[in-house]
Amino acid sequence: MAASSSLRLFFLAAFLVAIVFAAPAPTKRNLAKRSFKVPRSLNKAHPRGLNGPDAIRKVYMKYGFSGGFIAAQKTGDEERAGLKQNAANSTAAANNGTGTVAANPEQNAALFLSPVNVGGQILNLDFDSGSSDLWMFSTDLPQAAIAGHSAFDASKSTTFKQIEGAQFSISYGDGSGAAGTVGTDVVNIGGVTVENQAVELANAVSRSFVQDTNTDGLVGLAFSKLNTVNDGVKKTPQKTFFDNVMPNLDLPVFTADLDPDGTGVYEFGKIDSSKFVGDMAWIPVNASSGFWQFDSAKFAVDGVEMKNAAGSKAIADTGTSLLLVDQEVADAYYAKVTGAQNNAQVGGFIYPCSAKLPDISVAIGSTYMATIPGNQVTFATVDDANTTCFGGVQGNGGAGLQIYGDTMFKAQFVAFNGGNQSLGFGAKPPV
Ligand SMILES: *[C@@H]1O[C@H](CO)[C@@H](O)[C@H](O)[C@H]1NC(C)=O
Ligand SMILES: *[C@@H]1O[C@H](CO)[C@@H](O)[C@H](O)[C@H]1NC(C)=O
Ligand SMILES: *[C@@H]1O[C@H](CO)[C@@H](O)[C@H](O)[C@H]1NC(C)=O
Ligand SMILES: *[C@@H]1O[C@H](CO)[C@@H](O)[C@H](O)[C@H]1NC(C)=O
Ligand SMILES: *[C@@H]1O[C@H](CO)[C@@H](O)[C@H](O)[C@H]1NC(C)=O
Repeated sequence: MAASSSLRLFFLAAFLVAIVFAAPAPTKRNLAKRSFKVPRSLNKAHPRGLNGPDAIRKVYMKYGFSGGFIAAQKTGDEERAGLKQNAANSTAAANNGTGTVAANPEQNAALFLSPVNVGGQILNLDFDSGSSDLWMFSTDLPQAAIAGHSAFDASKSTTFKQIEGAQFSISYGDGSGAAGTVGTDVVNIGGVTVENQAVELANAVSRSFVQDTNTDGLVGLAFSKLNTVNDGVKKTPQKTFFDNVMPNLDLPVFTADLDPDGTGVYEFGKIDSSKFVGDMAWIPVNASSGFWQFDSAKFAVDGVEMKNAAGSKAIADTGTSLLLVDQEVADAYYAKVTGAQNNAQVGGFIYPCSAKLPDISVAIGSTYMATIPGNQVTFATVDDANTTCFGGVQGNGGAGLQIYGDTMFKAQFVAFNGGNQSLGFGAKPPV
């Protein structure tokens, strides 16, 4: 007790000192602020909007999955580099000196964005609990790559400090991604500032990011060990914004509260229990991989529980649109949907939009089943006439990891607890 309250005092003191020394420190209002909200809005400049094939391709590439239809559809000019934390070098290597690297257009575009203030400059960033870098477009990029984006100009920030020799390179499975230099600056999200937040300035980005003119970068919210900053020889991972802000929060959490359309709110420091029904279920995560990872060896269709024979671990990823489950789970689920088929051309399960979909539940650890009501499973339509639908639940092609994204967050209020490394789940009211 005594230890924890003196720790708290220490952090409070550190926070106050930090604010006093912050150069153009945004306001004293921050002193009382122990929780804050950030809106998550639809990216209106997204090249194709809600698009099932893009969504499944994006998650397969993000995690370097090689099974299913997606691998077969690959154009063949890229080399898959595996999980992105193992691919620290590949983007920089692919940079052809023009500030762009080869990648298929569109499929990595972020659907949802939140405003972030870096050294007094506002950027629209994608909050991604499946990665750990805070990187952004910068004026180190050629003008042609910047066009339409907000790009961070370090020379216009009085608080920016370069970290000599530090570089970053974050890569998706196909070699797309971003690379550049690293510094620290005052980062303000939702009115709360972190002094000396590591910020990564892209001097090379993939074409998908260039084309997605609303997205200026990412805020990684997985564990700091996945951060890709290095000194050219060895990894020198930097702390995420969440790790840095945590001591100043009432509770060491951030929550994802998404509406059925995928927009919503991230809140740091507080759990708003009016947003879910009943009590929150807490499940410990295994952070050793750097992800918000847990067991998920069971599933249920319309409440009928079944064992998931593959039983792959699962991660909670706000940067993924779909609920990507073990292939057997997707097969079993769509076996109950009249007219459903796993379609090679589209890249996943589709069905007549008139079909009645059963509820699906996936295990979160051994004690909680997260249910997605059938009427919230559809991700998008496939055709202009809106007769064929693309499911928000898809198979992982035997990849050995399940990725639980927005399809889950739209139905479940989720708290990411960095204090005791756990996830809190509460079912959202039915829509
Ligand atoms: C980058 O690649 C070189 C060899 O190409 C390797 O020696 C070095 O360790 C790599 N750096 C990182 C950070 O992975
Ligand atoms: C190199 O840059 C040019 C100009 O942006 C681009 O058209 C080309 O595709 C790039 N090539 C590679 C391999 O990245
Ligand atoms: C983690 O913290 C939450 C909220 O303070 C608490 O309710 C929960 O029991 C804790 N979970 C674990 C696994 O320790
Ligand atoms: C956590 O995951 C790692 C692999 O990522 C595994 O080696 C370890 O046994 C796991 N720990 C627990 C407590 O399950
Ligand atoms: C299909 O749905 C879209 C999005 O809801 C809508 O804008 C469009 O008008 C619909 N098309 C038809 C033919 O109903």
